[in-house]
Amino acid sequence: TQISFDASALKKFVHENELGEMQAMVNAADSELRNGTGAGADFRDWLHLPTEYDHEEFDRIKKAAKKIQSDSEVLVVIGIGGSYLGTRMAIDFLHDSFYYSQKPADRKFPLVLFAGNSLSSSYLHDLVQLIGDRDFSVNVVSKSGTTTEPAIAFRIFHELLVKKYGEEGANQRIYATTDAKRGALKTEADAAGWETFVIPDGVGGRYSVLSAVGLLPIAASGADIDQLMAGAADAEKSYTNPDLTQNEAYQYAAYRNILYRKGFTTELLENYEPNMTMFAEWWKQLAGESEGKDQKGIYPSSANFTTDLHSLGQYIQEGMRNLMETVVKLDTPNHDVTIPAAENDLDGLAYLQGKNMDWVNTKAYQAVVAAHNAGGVPVMTVHIPREDEYTLGSLIYFFEVAMGISGYLNGINPFNQPGVEAYKTNMFGLLGKPGFEAVGDQLRAQMKENEK
Ligand code: PA5
Repeated sequence: TQISFDASALKKFVHENELGEMQAMVNAADSELRNGTGAGADFRDWLHLPTEYDHEEFDRIKKAAKKIQSDSEVLVVIGIGGSYLGTRMAIDFLHDSFYYSQKPADRKFPLVLFAGNSLSSSYLHDLVQLIGDRDFSVNVVSKSGTTTEPAIAFRIFHELLVKKYGEEGANQRIYATTDAKRGALKTEADAAGWETFVIPDGVGGRYSVLSAVGLLPIAASGADIDQLMAGAADAEKSYTNPDLTQNEAYQYAAYRNILYRKGFTTELLENYEPNMTMFAEWWKQLAGESEGKDQKGIYPSSANFTTDLHSLGQYIQEGMRNLMETVVKLDTPNHDVTIPAAENDLDGLAYLQGKNMDWVNTKAYQAVVAAHNAGGVPVMTVHIPREDEYTLGSLIYFFEVAMGISGYLNGINPFNQPGVEAYKTNMFGLLGKPGFEAVGDQLRAQMKENEK
């Protein structure tokens, strides 16, 4: 992998010996992760997903992607959480900045759009309007098959497909990515004859982007999933040695835990590229769902630079000193722009004319690291060489393996998410779902009480 991790800006915050002091704990975390002796051991199959995937299914994914490309202008991907964020960030990372606004005539591959990631009726209405009379297919992604948001969206798009193409035609345009054997979606798919893809048993939602969950829509969008997997496979090999002097993903995990224990309890993932905004959303789920439990854990947040230097920048520089930053810095943009000369110098930019914009962006990054450091914020950087499939595959694996180690370093199960159920029980109670009547009665009584 060509990713590199830079902790040189931590000197003021972490003594030289501190990383070495973590080695024994990292060895233990590594052993828990690799040997399955830690909590959540059943959900570690993502560790070898880049090298030990189902090749027959991988070929079917490519074939399905080709079919979608041949008969659809739009692919609607229906899913939420781990069944949404990875695909969304990959589409943004791998395509043109104005991917979603390109004219249909300029589009070589289907436009990938997303549904089922909120309960907003306006969003769904507007999406249906946007698709209009264009040919479309649907990839419904849900491991359980019972998640409310995607289930509602799928009902709506299923109905639209049947209206447009008839029952049989619709069945040819629905691709279901779900559990191999269980669940409502699997049962429905088998009954209707939809093509199905598998979310492997040992892979939790937030670790699933390199399974069919991400691969089918990413391939349908025209991106190269062989390269994506190649980058991840190289990362899988690169980050196996637990020696902290050799393993940069483990270094990142160790440093963020050193900092956490000093009171830096919020971590901002930052970029200098607007098309990485969703990458941070993916990372936030990966970090937050993995680590925020048992009343502890680093709170994952994000900022988009230089945009947010003009808003959040004030807080980061001078607000409460519980922040650490991890920048994912792109070293070479796909396109650079030269700052032009102007006849007069009324804007005072003559000193920059002829310079590349990305050079300015990088100077801004260096200036920000120094300023935030001086202001009491430790900054780490993950350098990435390019925005392409290979790099993204490596980057995904870097953060996944780091989060596994980091969770064990903090003494929690990094692979469960018991806390996401509490609101669902309440919501089902209020919605009147059979079996949840008592919860509903209790909540309504409580709400009445609160109103008094
Ligand atoms: O990580 C998780 O478990 C969640 O974010 C799930 O991915 C999300 O709730 C969607 O679940 P499902 O794929 O079962 O519809």
